[in-house]
Amino acid sequence: MKPVYVGLLGFGTVGSGVAKVLARNAEEISRRAGRAIEVKRAAVRNIEKAKALAPADVEIGTDPLAVVDDPAVDIVVELIGGTSDAKELVLRAIANGKHIVTANKALLAEHGNEIFAAARAKGVMLAFEAAVAGGIPIIKALREGLTANRIEWIAGIINGTSNFILSAMRDQGKGFDEALKEAQALGYAEADPTFDIEGHDAAHKLTILSAIAFGTPMQYEHAYLEGISKLTREDIAYAEQLGYRIKLLGITKRRPQGIELRVHPTLVPAKKILANVEGVMNAVLVNGDAVGQTLYSGRGAGSEPTASSVVADLVDIARLLTADPGHRVPYLAFQPDRMVDLPVLPI
Ligand code: NDP
Ligand code: HSE
Repeated sequence: MKPVYVGLLGFGTVGSGVAKVLARNAEEISRRAGRAIEVKRAAVRNIEKAKALAPADVEIGTDPLAVVDDPAVDIVVELIGGTSDAKELVLRAIANGKHIVTANKALLAEHGNEIFAAARAKGVMLAFEAAVAGGIPIIKALREGLTANRIEWIAGIINGTSNFILSAMRDQGKGFDEALKEAQALGYAEADPTFDIEGHDAAHKLTILSAIAFGTPMQYEHAYLEGISKLTREDIAYAEQLGYRIKLLGITKRRPQGIELRVHPTLVPAKKILANVEGVMNAVLVNGDAVGQTLYSGRGAGSEPTASSVVADLVDIARLLTADPGHRVPYLAFQPDRMVDLPVLPI
């Protein structure tokens, strides 16, 4: 059977990880997907940088339209980040009938209502496991494993960079700026790290989790957010003396009149699970009425952990392409025509 051909928009930290994982685990992946999955072409801004990382058979260019308009490409993987070019390219790819995988939480939290509606109208799949909590399969857990539950609340550490900085300040006595630089060098931070340290990235992810858990539209613009940029080593040390750790948490809760959607530094008792999640690790607690409390933890950022989720989405789509097209609808986890009207409550 013909391989499933992938076009990559972006070949940076995550894009290069995707190519590596697809190549290294090609045999297992093709067995699980029912056919091979191959990167056909990629678009970047700086060709030389990408060529040094890409396998020789991947065509690298600077024109993203060559990816989204290529009739041979079955799935477009958007890994350029940001919300302007990414939105335009994803909508164009959808209009061209391409299936989409994206790790771009900003794009989905801010424009997801429109993008999912376009995907639904066109009948294409749109998968986004990597957009929340890097390598943790939290979207799958919510959509599949917990689908019998009425979700009551979700609370988690969902920004690896902030958690890395807080851990480095507490455990190694590092300064904020030094720890942030290290997180950037390791490929954890957003292109604009303000998104990490001021809480926007966590709020983007929380918006997505909340929309899936409660069946609401994406309501990022109503989220309360506060980051870690004003925290000092003294704050962290005082918290420690009182038996707490400071963690940047994303919390969303169902209330009778609406939902809470908030991101802020939180004093977590030192014995609690979330207090002991360190470095780039993320952890998400989900409380469902039937199952009770469940915990998901793992690396929340980085090249291969994130690629693990992107490739999982590729395998899912490849399986469905190989099977019955009538099964594609579940991949619109977020159903724009079946929304519940629950407003975000003011804090
Ligand atoms: P990088 O900055 O490492 O890579 C971005 C890539 O996109 C580069 O190859 C860049 O090219 C290319 N690019 C950017 N803008 C354009 C454009 N307009 N046209 C063509 N190419 C473009 O980012 P990451 O890989 O870290 O992140 C990608 C996405 O994944 C983001 O949405 C991010 O939020 C998300 N994500 C990242 C994680 C991580 O751990 N890094 C984890 C989970 C999600 P060039 O280098 O030539 O400029
Ligand atoms: N910048 C993000 C983080 C990448 O640090 O968590 C993963 O989404």
